[in-house]
Amino acid sequence: MNIGSLEVTGKAALAPMAGVADAAFRRVCVDFGACFVTGEMVSAKGIIYGDRKSRELLTLDDEERPAAIQLFGDDPDVMARAAVQAMAYAPDVIDINMGCPAPKIVGNRAGSALMRSPELCRRIVEAIVKEVDVPVTAKIRKGYDREHVNAVEVAQAVEAGGAAAVTVHGRTRDQMYAPPVDWTIIREVKRAVSIPVIGNGDVTDVRSAAALYEQTGCDLIAVGRGALGAPWLFSQIAAYWGEGRILQDPPVSKRMQVLCRQVRLAVEEKGEKIALLQARKHAAWYMKGLRDAAALRARACRLETMAELEEFCFQVILSQEKAGEEP
Ligand SMILES: Cc1cc2nc3c(=O)[nH]c(=O)nc-3n(C[C@H](O)[C@H](O)[C@H](O)COP(=O)(O)O)c2cc1C
Repeated sequence: MNIGSLEVTGKAALAPMAGVADAAFRRVCVDFGACFVTGEMVSAKGIIYGDRKSRELLTLDDEERPAAIQLFGDDPDVMARAAVQAMAYAPDVIDINMGCPAPKIVGNRAGSALMRSPELCRRIVEAIVKEVDVPVTAKIRKGYDREHVNAVEVAQAVEAGGAAAVTVHGRTRDQMYAPPVDWTIIREVKRAVSIPVIGNGDVTDVRSAAALYEQTGCDLIAVGRGALGAPWLFSQIAAYWGEGRILQDPPVSKRMQVLCRQVRLAVEEKGEKIALLQARKHAAWYMKGLRDAAALRARACRLETMAELEEFCFQVILSQEKAGEEP
């Protein structure tokens, strides 16, 4: 599929996840075949006021491309100025966050609050499209709440503003991340616009990936939480489409190798202290499905150094071996 002038080859993208899908995790997902990634959302105001943390979040590695930078905010002029500054980081796409449900973001009229005004959504896209020479996309939800299900209207508005694609997460803002996800809204958006539609919500395995495509006719899917602690999901999806093969999850030894690689990359980027603090939740996700997972997760929450993580992974492999699991 194409996002404007950008050709995206593959079946599954990594969805943006603030505080989780950092450069290290994105890189590991790309290694397993994620065909497109989006960075953590960045405040448009933070960028134009020169906030150091916002600028750090803009950095994209050459190895994780094609990649989008995602901006949040509510003022078309500020968003456009931020997009111009973000171009210094050479994104392949500029994406606009119109779906974040967090009270702090919505309270500032950004994220999913934008969906309350399709006209403002259109103006934001238009303002950015005018200023940058890469495709501009938007990520929306089903609607703001049960009484305001307007993804179709918002998708048409961003298309009218010049968006090159739209990602639809099939939940309202009110739902946050709670079930059920509604894929029918993705199909309705697909029928109502001519730009590519990226379907999102609750893809956790090859079967749900295939079902999201089949049930919605979407052009690409974006996987978020399903890839946490399981970045090989992207290679499983690729193998299914490429050769019709169902790949099993990798053995424990391989999983621990991937976790160590991810954290090593994070240490290079952020230093050992911060990387290890953030690695605890990732390590816990990598324990999913293992024997005594709860106890392993509790131990993961105390890791402080890379050496401790490596020793922990070694012990995990041994303990699963002893318990009769394939190492
Ligand atoms: C921890 C976390 C952080 C997220 N951060 C962002 C974000 O920065 N921008 C965004 O558009 N969506 C964000 N999302 C939403 C995801 O991109 C995605 O729409 C949602 O998780 C549903 O997809 P999934 O069921 O595959 O996880 C976040 C989700 C999670 C769980």
